[in-house]
Amino acid sequence: MTLPNWRQILIGVLHRNRKQPYSRYFQLATVRTDGYPANRTVVFRGFLNNTNQLKIIVDSRSEKINQIQHQPFAEACWYFTETREQFRLAGKLTLVGADCDDAELEKARVSTWQELSDNARIQFAWAHPGEKRANPEAFAPSQPDAVTPLANFCLLLLDPVKVDHLELRGEPQNRYLYTRDEQENWTCIEINP
Ligand SMILES: Cc1cc2nc3c(=O)[nH]c(=O)nc-3n(C[C@H](O)[C@H](O)[C@H](O)COP(=O)(O)O)c2cc1C
Repeated sequence: MTLPNWRQILIGVLHRNRKQPYSRYFQLATVRTDGYPANRTVVFRGFLNNTNQLKIIVDSRSEKINQIQHQPFAEACWYFTETREQFRLAGKLTLVGADCDDAELEKARVSTWQELSDNARIQFAWAHPGEKRANPEAFAPSQPDAVTPLANFCLLLLDPVKVDHLELRGEPQNRYLYTRDEQENWTCIEINP
C-alpha cells in the first residue's frame, strides 16, 4: 500500500519536532451523547502497523467511551511548536477492548500494553476515572502484569478521511487539504489559509 502524502509529511514533522516531548500530544474531539463537543489531550502511540490509523490508549471506564460508542466520528488537532504547523485529522474511531474478536487488533492491543512504561500501565489500576475522588490507597495498587493487559485497557484507533495541514511559516501561509474517497484513494489540493 502506498502511503498517502499526509502520513509521510506527518512522520517528517514529528521527527523535526522530536526535541519537544509534548510534540506527541494532540487534542482529540468527540461528540457527547447530548450533542455537545468533548475534547481532551491524548498521547500519540504511533500508527497501527502499515495503516494510516493513529493509535491512542484509553481506559474503558472513562467517559469518552460512551461518546465513541454512541457515534464514532472524531477530530484530532495537533500543533507543532518548533515547525509551526497544525494538522487536523477527521475520521472514525475504532475501540479495541478486552472483548475484541479481531485477532490482529487484539495483538496490537497487547503489544501496545507491553510497550508502555510501568508508570503508564499502573494508571489503569487506579480508581475509576471521573468518579468522586477516592482514598489514597486507590492510587497505590500493585504493579500490573507487564505482559497481559488489564481488562479496562483499550486501544483506540483514529482512521482519518480528511486531513487539513496548515503551515504558518511562509508569507503567505500554506494550507493543504487531503481527502479520501470511497475507493480509499487520497487526493490533495492546496487551499487558501
Ligand atoms: C499531556 C496529557 C496526555 C494525556 N494522554 C492521555 C491518553 O493518552 N489517553 C487518555 O485516555 N487520556 C489522556 N490524558 C487525560 C485526558 O486528557 C482526559 O483528562 C481523560 O482521558 C478523561 O477524559 P474523558 O472524561 O473525556 O474520558 C492526557 C492528559 C494530558 C494532560
